[in-house]
Amino acid sequence: MTITRHRRRRARAVSAVAVAAMAVGMAVPLALPAAAAGSTLESAAAETNRYYGAAMAGSYLNNSQVTGILQREFDMITAENEMKMDATEPSQNQFSYTNGDRIVNWALQNGKQVRGHALAWHSQQPGWMQNMSGTNLRNAMLNHVTKVATYYKGKIYAWDVVNEAYADGNSGGRRDSNLQRTGNDWIEAAFRAARAADPGAKLCYNDYNTDNWSHAKTQGVYNMVKDFKARGVPIDCVGFQAHFNSGNPVPSNYDVTLRNFADLGVDVQITELDIEGSGSSQSQQFAGVTQACLSVARCTGITVWGVRDSESWRASGTPLLFDGSGNKKAAYTGTLNALNAGGVRATPGGTTTQPTQQPTTQPTSQPTTQPTSQPTTQPTANPTTPPPTGSGTCTATYSEGEKWNDRFNGVVTIRANGNISSWTSTVTVRSPQRIIATWSGSPTWPSANVMTMRPNGSGALANGQTASFGFTVQHGGNWTWPTVTCSAS
Ligand code: G3I
Repeated sequence: MTITRHRRRRARAVSAVAVAAMAVGMAVPLALPAAAAGSTLESAAAETNRYYGAAMAGSYLNNSQVTGILQREFDMITAENEMKMDATEPSQNQFSYTNGDRIVNWALQNGKQVRGHALAWHSQQPGWMQNMSGTNLRNAMLNHVTKVATYYKGKIYAWDVVNEAYADGNSGGRRDSNLQRTGNDWIEAAFRAARAADPGAKLCYNDYNTDNWSHAKTQGVYNMVKDFKARGVPIDCVGFQAHFNSGNPVPSNYDVTLRNFADLGVDVQITELDIEGSGSSQSQQFAGVTQACLSVARCTGITVWGVRDSESWRASGTPLLFDGSGNKKAAYTGTLNALNAGGVRATPGGTTTQPTQQPTTQPTSQPTTQPTSQPTTQPTANPTTPPPTGSGTCTATYSEGEKWNDRFNGVVTIRANGNISSWTSTVTVRSPQRIIATWSGSPTWPSANVMTMRPNGSGALANGQTASFGFTVQHGGNWTWPTVTCSAS
């Protein structure tokens, strides 16, 4: 392809997405054109470091057309029903993994990653569990989370630990269910059990009708995640199911919702996307959802809830990207173009605990002096001439530094998305950890385990520029990575 033709194609893609964004009423984000156009959903999403996934039912394995599409287009797989509570524990404490394994093994053998769905849910409980309550139910739920997450340990990219725990409507509160009646702390108990069982999997809360920022349900979930992050409950991500139709359209503030959750220090993922409709209207809505995700650095991937319309849980609404014959629909093209138009590069997991990346052996070298104020990384692009006052956002990414027996260094990179006039970063460590030294920033201490870091200078950064600061954590035996967030002004 000549450069001229390539540029023309890219320009067409960008303008198609701009039209799509306007159709759903979204602000058009500053799109950074990706390096090369991907010809599949997977390769196009990978250009901005994202995955593109699909839900897969066991029956798909008998259909070579569908498995062919899965192999070609997707790099993340969710079992549609086969890893749910009723499927994996049909009798109490007797686990059945045959159907889940068929999907997980197919995915891994074909180079895909797996989202686990779902460990604890009020729906699709096995009959024996539906009749339980109180302590017996709480213990049975925790046993289920522990056993299933342990069984699949090392094979799961992210678990939907708890699914659909918030009520619809205007209450903004929890949904009544047998699990909720065991006590309000059932969700965090499930997350702690999942973390203990599989420390390498991202742990997500997953729900529907949480797409519109102004809805009470969205606010309820947001407040729970905020509380969990503040108290160190191990949550890494929030899944937005994204089942849309004319009665529940893609909201114009979808990107706002995703960004606000991401700013809490979690990855956000679109986990069950389908949009009823057809033609250019459906295509524009898929493009708008894609673009909202691509405008948020911690929106790390999108999963559609099935492959062909004919296998969808709501087939009559033709809500997917391929028709019943496996042909690509307009919605497919709208999605692919939106992915190829580029966006903010995804930075997954930068502010989450990632125990798989923690040292497998304890470091032995013991420095003779405590690190006092020596930076290991200089700010990389602190502009000498501050850019004009901006309205951009920032992201904070944590990276490991040196490690010793009793402490480790961490570096936080602040990246401006749009011009910003300053930034504030919050670092939260886990008990018994303590921050004992910092450099390249001015810290304050809202509480013993929370540090608020501000820049030494003005903190102004132009779009794409970065600054860094560092700190030393005395870990007291807890090697969990700190959580870091950033807010811009
Ligand atoms: O496999 C049996 C079949 O043997 C039986 O004859 C038939 C009779 O009803 O039922 C079949 O099972 C159905 C199963 O899907 C497999 O097709 C269940 O009845 C049906 O309830 C089940 O629906 C699933 C639904 O979750 C249950 O809540 C859908 O496939 C699945 O797409 C849907 O997925 C959920 C997510 O997990 C959570 N978010 C919402 C999403 C859509 O509802």
